[in-house]
Amino acid sequence: MLLQIPNVLSAEQVLTCRHLLSQADWADGKITAGHQSAKAKHNLQLPEGHPIAQQLASMILNVLNQNPLFISAALPLKIFPPLFNCYQSGGHFGLHVDNAIRDIRSVDGQRVIERVRTDISATLFLSQPDEYEGGELLIEDTYGAKSVKLPAGHLILYPSTSLHKVNPVTRGARVASFFWIQSLVRDDAQRTVLFDLDQSIQQLNTVASEHSALVQLTGVYHNLLRMWSNV
Ligand code: NI
Repeated sequence: MLLQIPNVLSAEQVLTCRHLLSQADWADGKITAGHQSAKAKHNLQLPEGHPIAQQLASMILNVLNQNPLFISAALPLKIFPPLFNCYQSGGHFGLHVDNAIRDIRSVDGQRVIERVRTDISATLFLSQPDEYEGGELLIEDTYGAKSVKLPAGHLILYPSTSLHKVNPVTRGARVASFFWIQSLVRDDAQRTVLFDLDQSIQQLNTVASEHSALVQLTGVYHNLLRMWSNV
């Protein structure tokens, strides 16, 4: 499932991110790429242990944990701390699949604290679309390629199994945050069923909150989640 989540960050939060990121020392994006994807990756990235990356990552994790649409769609078990990248001067990322497993490391980078299986990939746009030319995120879907370029503060979620790329940025700069989620429900199709069911239950709640079938439907939701979750 491809899902856009609007206004994950407020205009003020976007400005805070942009202000702090404009003062940061960026590094070559190949530092977090796997062997194969390093050949395709041409962008700048904040090192994982960078204090600005850590400060902004905790702000983003905080807002995500309070976003009902994100929780309903992703059913997060673990979230890899958000990273930050910048594409400019023709920067791009060729077609690739994200690494299956990501290690969360200690601040000194020496120890692996936790491992995250990447079920869902996420990009949080931090530049407005009119600030740069190109830079579309192209995600290959069973229905064909989907081009994504969202307003600052909006998020796209897509299955980490998808092939995807970022088109060259030919004018301006495209700043974004990106991260991965290990979901309680590994299978994208099962997660989509749960999301549709949850959204329907919430809609019914607004028009017929006393209806007895709602209790039963909510039970079905939890019983499917119990059946499909892996914790
Ligand atoms: Ni990727």
